[in-house]
Amino acid sequence: MNVPLPHLAPALRDGGLDRTFLQDVLGGLSAPKKHLSAKYFYDRRGSELFEAITRLPEYYPTRTELAILDRDGPEIGAGLPPGAALVEFGSGSTAKVRRLLPHLTDLAAYVPVDVSEEFLRSEAEELGRDFPRLRVEPVAADFTKPFALPDDLADAPKAGFFPGSTIGNFEPEMAAGLLASFARTLGAGATLIVGIDLVKDKAVLDAAYDDSAGVTAAFNLNLLARINRELGADFDLDAFSHQAFFDENLGRIEMHLVSRRSQLVTVAGVPFHFASGETIHTENSYKYTVPGFRALARGAGWEHARVWTDPDGLFSVHALTASTIRRQ
Ligand code: AVJ
Repeated sequence: MNVPLPHLAPALRDGGLDRTFLQDVLGGLSAPKKHLSAKYFYDRRGSELFEAITRLPEYYPTRTELAILDRDGPEIGAGLPPGAALVEFGSGSTAKVRRLLPHLTDLAAYVPVDVSEEFLRSEAEELGRDFPRLRVEPVAADFTKPFALPDDLADAPKAGFFPGSTIGNFEPEMAAGLLASFARTLGAGATLIVGIDLVKDKAVLDAAYDDSAGVTAAFNLNLLARINRELGADFDLDAFSHQAFFDENLGRIEMHLVSRRSQLVTVAGVPFHFASGETIHTENSYKYTVPGFRALARGAGWEHARVWTDPDGLFSVHALTASTIRRQ
């Protein structure tokens, strides 16, 4: 959707305004079923709220994955070829790779891939201090699009790292496309270590995304606050409520923001009507069974090698091997 400039608040006409963000928001709110992309949760405040989520008693994924990496790190590390380049897709924080690095003594380089250059630089510096013998070669790129690895790593065997069940944010078809693109980036014979949240009791899943302290609600609502701040919108945060539930048929958590009344909201001069009870769909978080994820990976050119889970079967860490490289 193209926005004529006169509609924009003066402050937004120059600088500051992120056109892609604006177009995605206007497009999503114009759809018959209103939606916003989960990738926009993570401004500074959103990232802080996500960190707080990972410490909630109900939100088991982060601490469970870290426990698996701690317990099985030696085995996971032993499965990687000597002299490998470890490529982390969307490195975010380096908390998880820090658990693996002590077990990867013979690493050619660690290659964090992230869109935020500033973030990459500061994280790379800190990592360099804590692991002085590690070569860190950050790549500023959007990992959902094809990108090139540093030339000097052309001859090193490749290993990918994609923790956090981030893949759950993608529709299964998109997730398979992403895994196939990782295979093309890393090459035949590469290994991929990927964290996948597992299907489980609905009550456990519902609570993990609708915690009693209301942190996930604040995280969800911050998306509207961000749109107000960055795109000159007038969302009344008290007029929307957080909703999250596991859909057992689709195998995914859905998060929504529910309009508590009939209302009109203006985004960059464009009015949007909300009926009472109408929702904005803000996130999907797909959960897989171990065989279900293996089938998805196999379709994307990755053969299953190993899987590690916690004693309660909440979360899984998979080692996969790139078998065939498909052309796009
Ligand atoms: C960062 C996508 C893995 O789906 O569990 C947490 C995001 N949303 N609580 C997830 C999230 C609400 C999280 N991921």
